[in-house]
Amino acid sequence: MSFKALLASKSGSTVSTSVVELDEGELMPGDVTIAVEYSSLNYKDALAVSGRAEIIRTFPLIAGIDLAGTVESSSYPGIVPGDRVVLNGWQLSQAHHGGYAQKARVNGDWLVKLPEVFSTKDAMAIGTAGYTAMLSVLALEHGGVHPEHGDILVTGANGGVGSIAIALLSRLGYRVVASTGRLAEADYLRSLGAAEIIDRAQLSESGPPIARERWAGVVDCVGSHTLANALAQTRYGGVVTACGLAQGTGLPASVLPFILRNVTLAGIDSVNAPQAMRIQAWARLARDLDLDKLASTTQLIGLSEVPAAAERLLAGQVRGRTIVDVNV
Ligand SMILES: NC(=O)c1ccc[n+]([C@@H]2O[C@H](COP(=O)([O-])OP(=O)(O)OC[C@H]3O[C@@H](n4cnc5c(N)ncnc54)[C@H](OP(=O)(O)O)[C@@H]3O)[C@@H](O)[C@H]2O)c1
Repeated sequence: MSFKALLASKSGSTVSTSVVELDEGELMPGDVTIAVEYSSLNYKDALAVSGRAEIIRTFPLIAGIDLAGTVESSSYPGIVPGDRVVLNGWQLSQAHHGGYAQKARVNGDWLVKLPEVFSTKDAMAIGTAGYTAMLSVLALEHGGVHPEHGDILVTGANGGVGSIAIALLSRLGYRVVASTGRLAEADYLRSLGAAEIIDRAQLSESGPPIARERWAGVVDCVGSHTLANALAQTRYGGVVTACGLAQGTGLPASVLPFILRNVTLAGIDSVNAPQAMRIQAWARLARDLDLDKLASTTQLIGLSEVPAAAERLLAGQVRGRTIVDVNV
């Protein structure tokens, strides 16, 4: 049977995408076949689809690092037809066909069963960005950061990870300070739960190696000088999580926050996170994420709209999360 997919191809050094009809026989090996309902657009998807970074390692390939849908057939133990599942990362859109398609065949051990409270559309409103926000919150908790310890800084606040991190942290009782380049979106950020909004320009230039203690914890999505300044401003014993590179991949920092203030820098990787951590993150999302707030972060697009939306995302013009309906 044929299905629709957004296929990425490469000619010379140029990556292009087009919506095509493929046959199920063209899917890659895997022990679970899924009727995909929704995917999502993340920063990494935008890099992949635009060809701005070498995310896709084999061409042609169906793009999309996320998918949610219903299992059609399975030979994987514990997964049966009718199960609602979510997949974030692993090899998707790198070496294995991804989520921008009506059909997927994948390894069963990449899948998480969707908590009851979420529809497949909710799952993709969350997507890799929201699951990464939860991994960041778990890392703060693991490092012993509690709401009474003080303010939590969230950088890249209007983005997918930032928006959902704000919603989660405020629900858990933390006082959240949102750093953004889009001060015009302050009302949106407050509606998610931010108590205070700061201009990202305060953090984005080179700063002193150690500075006044401001943050009990930080969820950083942008890297570079912003991450270095966040480290320099973190209170004794605080935790800074690093998941992103929207400003840059550099880390022009000093060791002083670590050796004078016992600050912890916690790396966050969603792509190869072990299954137990994924299951914990999705269970905590089910417990701690306000679905009304989640809905306020989202917009819905079809497969053919992904390339243009990717350009807008990379230009910093997309707020919150973008769900991709693979059936339109
Ligand atoms: N480690 C992992 O497993 C993992 C998983 C998911 C995402 N990520 C990374 O996390 C980051 C955020 O992902 P996302 O999906 O939330 O992306 P996104 O929706 O595009 O959000 C990124 C946000 O970063 C801010 N930003 C953009 N350019 C900037 C610049 N030059 N300087 C400072 N801030 C800038 C913007 O927020 P404002 O407009 O509010 O300033 C933007 O909305 C990306 O770098 C992504 O690659 C990593």
